[in-house]
Amino acid sequence: MAIQKIGVLGIGQMGVGIVQIAAQAGFDVLASDISEEKNQKAKAKIEKSLGRLVEKEKISASDRDNVLAKIKWTTANKDFADQDLIIEAITENVEAKVKLFGELDKIAKSDAILATNTSSISVTRLAAATGRPEKVIGMHFFNPVPVMKLLEVIRAVQTDDATFKIATETGEKLGKQVVSVKDSAAFIVNRTLLPFLNEAMFTLYEGIGSAEDIDKACKLGLNHPMGPLELADFVGLDTLLAVLDVMYKEFGDTKYRACPLLRKYVEAGWYGRKTGRGFYNYQA
Ligand code: 3HC
Repeated sequence: MAIQKIGVLGIGQMGVGIVQIAAQAGFDVLASDISEEKNQKAKAKIEKSLGRLVEKEKISASDRDNVLAKIKWTTANKDFADQDLIIEAITENVEAKVKLFGELDKIAKSDAILATNTSSISVTRLAAATGRPEKVIGMHFFNPVPVMKLLEVIRAVQTDDATFKIATETGEKLGKQVVSVKDSAAFIVNRTLLPFLNEAMFTLYEGIGSAEDIDKACKLGLNHPMGPLELADFVGLDTLLAVLDVMYKEFGDTKYRACPLLRKYVEAGWYGRKTGRGFYNYQA
């Protein structure tokens, strides 16, 4: 099956980027979140992002208009019935994702592929919530989606070769380089990244250095574009805590225990840049 229509469900930080690159790659895109207000916010973000590309003369104003015209918006899951590939990018909550995959399975046409952008949750478990487990796969993008070149394609134990091939080819059409990953908590990138970010948080928690110095040290000492605390705020502390908790539960290894400071900040509603406060204050 050739993918023409891509539906994206959940258009927060990651979903909005997936919608943008899918429309830029020429797919017909259906984007959906839980409210009209969220859709409007996402639409404004995409307009701003494409506007920057016009200013930099990377695309023309008519290219921008053509890309925007490729995107349809809805708040109703039933509208996903004719999509070829549906990419779920809702919040990192296993119960919510399991429920959604069960619903999508009933709505989507029988040959549609159901993909998840989860950062850590078992794709196998989501596949098992459907009557088409062989057509369920992980497509894990990186933030900011229009910039980051990687796509992890994650095979659930049930995923068939045809689905893997289509997801890989679609990822390449979206301009990404694909790595194939076995379904294991946090996959490759987050499996290696999260212990690093968590350790940086412990370094702050234990008073070894200030947030600014920890970030400065890692940026200059490791040549990273962002320091670990800055990156944590950028990705979202709520997401990072959810991923660490999945890893801790899955592997039962204390090396994945979340830093208490991270848990406290999430309890306080300090999720990083998206809420205006995390390891740094963005409201000032
Ligand atoms: N959307 C679109 N384009 C963006 C963007 C965005 N949100 N943010 C930056 N860009 C573009 C800029 O327009 C610019 O494009 P140009 O080179 O064509 O002019 C380019 O990216 C560089 O941006 P800036 O000059 O503004 O800033 P920087 O050079 O500081 O780069 C950055 C910004 C690309 C975000 C860089 O700091 C970076 O790579 N940070 C690390 C990001 C990272 O590690 N992401 C992975 C997180 S883990 C994850 O997502 C997994 C999840 O499951 C947790």
